[in-house]
Amino acid sequence: MRQTIIAGNWKMNKTNDEAVELIQGLLGHEGDGEKVRMIVCPPYTALCDISRAINGSKIYLGAQNVYFEESGAYTGEIAPSMLLTIGVSYVIIGHSERREYFSETDQIVNDKVRLALKSGLIPIVCVGEVLEDRENGKTEEVVGAQIDGSLKGLNGDQMKKVVIAYEPVWAIGTGKTASPEMAQDVHRFIRDRLKNNFGDVAEKISILYGGSMKGSNAAELIAQPDIDGGLIGGASLKAEEFLKIINAV
Ligand code: 13P
Repeated sequence: MRQTIIAGNWKMNKTNDEAVELIQGLLGHEGDGEKVRMIVCPPYTALCDISRAINGSKIYLGAQNVYFEESGAYTGEIAPSMLLTIGVSYVIIGHSERREYFSETDQIVNDKVRLALKSGLIPIVCVGEVLEDRENGKTEEVVGAQIDGSLKGLNGDQMKKVVIAYEPVWAIGTGKTASPEMAQDVHRFIRDRLKNNFGDVAEKISILYGGSMKGSNAAELIAQPDIDGGLIGGASLKAEEFLKIINAV
């Protein structure tokens, strides 16, 4: 059985104090961390304090980005070891906002994924088409190429540790959610592609949906056979909204 994951991507929101306040509202509501796993991905500046706050709980900590070198003269960048040593276990890689505003290519995503895995971080690798791709019937072509390029060179053992997030770019922060059937079609496509590239391990990989997921639509999305959880932006910024999603699944 695949693990259900509900991850909050706080993006560039929350000062340190605000982040600590938000985590206080989530602590104690995370369940056993096994059947449904709650992950929070605060901005870098709040990782240390959030790590301390969740110590002893079943909430897991994720970062929103990582660099593809282990150390050195890369001003402003953060290495996997720096994240691991403060209690980070997951890292979002290749989010569409990084692809769009910071020119991250599949090659860069691939470099980051490989170093993250080598270092012991679990990558949450994001893929998704823009509206124009969808309207031109290119969703599978685009998402398929992102899957191939982002995960190039990995073996089945490594893939066991990877989480995928399908985030249609037109659904992010817009209030427009993909219908459960629409999302399921792409999730199935992704799983088939993973199976083609990596074999049976594909059945074990959690594929999350992201894009305007909230308490009112989470249950029907996650009821789909190939949707194993969610990567949540806006609705993860308030404890009560995020917990509605947790409770819905
Ligand atoms: P929203 O939930 O705000 O649409 O954002 C989704 C997302 O980008 C999560 O990574």
